[in-house]
Amino acid sequence: MSEKKILLTENEIPDRWYNIMADMPNKPLPPLNPETNEPIGPEALAPIFPMGLIQQEVSTERWIEIPDQVRDIYKIWRPTPLFRAYSFEKFLDTPAKIFYKYEGVSPAGSHKPNTSVAQAYYNKQEGVKKIVTETGAGQWGSALALACNMFDMECEVFMVRLSYDQKPYRKVMMNTWGATVHPSPSELTAAGRKILEQDPNSPGSLGIAISEAIETAVQDETTKYALGSVLNHVLLHQTVVGQEAVLQMEKAGELPDIIIAPFGGGSNFAGLTFPFLRLNLTEGKKIRAIASEPASCPKLTRGVFRYDFGDTIGMTPLLPMYTLGHNFVPAPIHAGGLRYHGAGVIVSQLLKDKLIEARAHKQLECFEAGINFAKTEGIIPAPEATHGIATAVQEAIKCKEEGVSRTILFNLCGHGNFDMSAYQSYFEGKLEEHELTSTEIENSLAELSTPTIS
Ligand SMILES: Cc1ncc(COP(=O)(O)O)c(C=O)c1O
Repeated sequence: MSEKKILLTENEIPDRWYNIMADMPNKPLPPLNPETNEPIGPEALAPIFPMGLIQQEVSTERWIEIPDQVRDIYKIWRPTPLFRAYSFEKFLDTPAKIFYKYEGVSPAGSHKPNTSVAQAYYNKQEGVKKIVTETGAGQWGSALALACNMFDMECEVFMVRLSYDQKPYRKVMMNTWGATVHPSPSELTAAGRKILEQDPNSPGSLGIAISEAIETAVQDETTKYALGSVLNHVLLHQTVVGQEAVLQMEKAGELPDIIIAPFGGGSNFAGLTFPFLRLNLTEGKKIRAIASEPASCPKLTRGVFRYDFGDTIGMTPLLPMYTLGHNFVPAPIHAGGLRYHGAGVIVSQLLKDKLIEARAHKQLECFEAGINFAKTEGIIPAPEATHGIATAVQEAIKCKEEGVSRTILFNLCGHGNFDMSAYQSYFEGKLEEHELTSTEIENSLAELSTPTIS
């Protein structure tokens, strides 16, 4: 057996982020003003984001330098290890070589601090005192709480009610880093009150929590909003993951045939895959990139490509993306971070152009894959991360059936140590399967009156 884990030194932490916009054959369509349906400029984002991040949002520069202060903080957990899953391969009895990049070693337990630290840095630079955000699984809220604490800023988090109840210790973790946490929908905002009027028992969703966070942020000049996924600058920051992985795979003497990552809004997927897609786009490599989403929230595999709001109430600009409709409230599955109706515009354009693929998995299949992974490789994955493992299992089994060995790399984007209630439900046989019917999808999409894209 050769090396189990491929490590890099601190000097090998990337010193720039990779912006795939520079190499995309078709750039995403512009965001639109929902009042006029006309393209908006970057200035429209100024009330909620600092200029440093807005510039990154619209940049087409291929490489963007990482500030030293951000890179210094990255050193707490970066470079992250890349492992060869020998035991999992053996368990699956596959000729495939399976590798995984492990982002669960960050203090918050996932890839999210790669962007929260960068976002806190640019906010601090511009005198912001407080950042408000939403969180689904609690991973993003924890990551932002950590980062705000490091830059001595306040942090307020609207946490999707379902996760708030399922994961009380994620809330305590955020409190430990000094953040205030509210369950969403809440009575604190007009957006929350509107949802509660319609459904007092609403489990909440990322879309609703985003509306509440934006509404709170715009009320004070020294407060800004931060998003943990979807937007271009968030995807950009995550590319440290894939840049390291390219180097680590080189050290392992391998180029992956297939790269896989779970998909909520696209940030960990972009983080792992964009630096490899660069090799496809600029060097003619043919690496397949697969986004793994839940069958209960299948925007990439069963949604439509059209303009839609990023939040439920309709406070964001209209974005060109794959969506199930901004009113769509996903079933209460345990992968809270994947319960989002839409997808980032860059990833959506790449899917439209068939430069990436997507696959949906049911909840039980994911947990089974995650538990088999935990039993063989040791790490207990976050429920979100089990979706990527489920795709890797399918591909490894295909290798066995076809009698070929392919090299598979997936992003183990977070650990599941705070997700024991989900695992407990699985073991007690209480986890339900959720797969949307076509009628449910049609009904949700029928409510959309946003511009279509031909
Ligand atoms: C562990 C984990 N993985 C994946 C996601 C999905 O988000 P994204 O698609 O931005 O990576 C989340 C979101 O909260 C998460 O917590």
